[in-house]
Amino acid sequence: MRLLPNLDRAASIEDLRVLAKRRIPRFAFDLVDGGAESERNLRRNLEAFAEIELTPRYMVDVGAIDTRATLFGQTFDAPFGMAPIGMLNAFWPDADLSLARICKRHNIPYVASSAASTTLERLAEAAEGNGWFQLYVSGDPDVTESLIARAEAAQYPVMMVTADVPAAGKRDRDIRNQLAVPFRFTPEVVMQLMARPLWSLASLRHGKPNIANYADLLQSATSYADVQKTLITPRFTWQDLGRLRDRWRGKLLVKGILHPDDALRCAELGCDGIVVSNHGGRQVDFGPPTIAVLPSIAEALGGRVKILLDSGVRRGADLIRAKALGAHFALTGRALAFGVGAGGTAGADRAVEILTLELHRAMGQLGATSIADIGNAAITPRKQSTAIASDPAKYRDLPSSSISS
Ligand code: FNR
Repeated sequence: MRLLPNLDRAASIEDLRVLAKRRIPRFAFDLVDGGAESERNLRRNLEAFAEIELTPRYMVDVGAIDTRATLFGQTFDAPFGMAPIGMLNAFWPDADLSLARICKRHNIPYVASSAASTTLERLAEAAEGNGWFQLYVSGDPDVTESLIARAEAAQYPVMMVTADVPAAGKRDRDIRNQLAVPFRFTPEVVMQLMARPLWSLASLRHGKPNIANYADLLQSATSYADVQKTLITPRFTWQDLGRLRDRWRGKLLVKGILHPDDALRCAELGCDGIVVSNHGGRQVDFGPPTIAVLPSIAEALGGRVKILLDSGVRRGADLIRAKALGAHFALTGRALAFGVGAGGTAGADRAVEILTLELHRAMGQLGATSIADIGNAAITPRKQSTAIASDPAKYRDLPSSSISS
């Protein structure tokens, strides 16, 4: 048995997901892979991206392609970064630090979660200037203030407040796996651990992962409800967001926006940007995929603030789809998490490499030499693409001017 999978043979993020699944016990794999309830929203995130077709354009000199993107005064090597993920060391030991370092190496942003298994100070250090901080607003104002003060002291230039958590999502896989606080070694868990000895040994060596920023507060937690009360609150309102805006001197983003009116209100309150996100389909099962609501949000904002998007990015072409429909930048959670699960730091590296290689190739096929070149014209008009799918003969009769817009 190979100790490390051959990562060069992983051609796609899905390949990395499959490798991660082979290495990680089911309860821990499901923790990251799963979504809310029947996981319809999770699936729709992926399908909605795939349904958007892009029309290639040729005979453009694409000998030099520049994938860099500038956001908040900083130029990154690619137009995406790592979304905040809590408790990721339960997926693979030291996943947080591996990802922070890999993001720095590839010069893309790394967003440290409030609920990370590594402290925000250590993550700021590992990301070396490429770190942003994600804030969960606690039910206890002192807890929130302490996180903000620490993020300020660690010199994070960007804070991203997550709005889509009036409650934790109902994740059916976690319920079926009987994930509980404190962690219990049920016979089923023991069986799963025995089936994944490498993970079990590595995890044993690194100790039990916790939610490091709140380690002291959570020591006495005896249930999920206790943990949730410390981390999040159902009472976070627009007034609180206004106060946060006054409090935080750096760039402020609001994550979890799905409605144009909410996006506008963030802009009116002086936020620097929003993240169009459904938390990767982990909060509600009935919601829309982010790429479907992006155009109406971009239209409402009319360029007033920056738009980032996440939830479902698995291919380089998804980054192009997001840009073409109005996003300035994208984040991805699971794509890089699957990388780290497949092969630790080397796997995270491979995941970034796959996405950037795919992006580069797709840009070449679309005749785009820079990210700024990617606009709405890349999108194949919907009517045309459904006509092609339902009746290929009709495609031949289309006047050539309507093949690409
Ligand atoms: C998340 N996400 C998340 N978001 C956040 O603001 N704070 C957090 O602590 C977490 N934790 C978290 C854990 C796990 C296991 C997952 C999969 C996701 C949501 C995350 O930032 C992002 O919105 C999604 O991951 C985007 O969807 P994709 O890229 O995973 O499809």
